[in-house]
Amino acid sequence: MGSKTMRIVVGVTGGSCSLYGVALLKALEQLDIETHLIVSKMGEYVTKHECDIEINDLKSMAAYFHKIDDLAAPVASGSFKTDGMIIIPCSMNTLGAIAGGLSLNLIHRAADVTIKEGRKLVLVTRETPLSVIHLENMLKLARMGVRIVPASPGFYHHPQTIGDLVNIMVGRVLDQLGIDTNLFKRWK
Ligand SMILES: Cc1cc2nc3c(=O)[nH]c(=O)nc-3n(C[C@H](O)[C@H](O)[C@H](O)COP(=O)(O)O)c2cc1C
Repeated sequence: MGSKTMRIVVGVTGGSCSLYGVALLKALEQLDIETHLIVSKMGEYVTKHECDIEINDLKSMAAYFHKIDDLAAPVASGSFKTDGMIIIPCSMNTLGAIAGGLSLNLIHRAADVTIKEGRKLVLVTRETPLSVIHLENMLKLARMGVRIVPASPGFYHHPQTIGDLVNIMVGRVLDQLGIDTNLFKRWK
């Protein structure tokens, strides 16, 4: 793990709200946490569409980048130790694949490994409205201890800008892995 204190796998898939994924990568960079980034094909498309950020710029925000179809990457094995995985945003497609135990790409496989090794998996899901299929997939995973963190920031912190909303969301996501930030003010 080198000199870094933690190692986190980050998956970016093709759900709307890719700005959360970008902000999370930037936050982890500041916190000196070793990141292993995987971006799905639609994750790449939506990040370009919504944030005008190219895949090479995303890559530069992570310590390591693994291709989505590289099922032989280190993060595909349980013997490669990590402190957990965050998929942000997590599409309903990826949610369904994980709930079904599929490993069709490296994000699915790394999530499957995270679950089987009993490590923390955080899914920042995004879709509305949610169908029974989506809800059942979330419930199935939540019962296994997977943290389902819908991309729905609270408003009780009085956010003034989209940046404030993003920080609240990213702060709450990192809370799930016990990573403390000063991205938002806690309720007292
Ligand atoms: C602009 C855009 C926004 C999308 N937003 C969502 C979304 O919010 N949630 C979702 O589940 N899928 C969304 N999709 C559809 C997914 O990208 C699609 O289901 C894809 O198969 C996901 O693949 P992945 O899980 O490998 O990234 C969106 C697609 C596009 C083009």
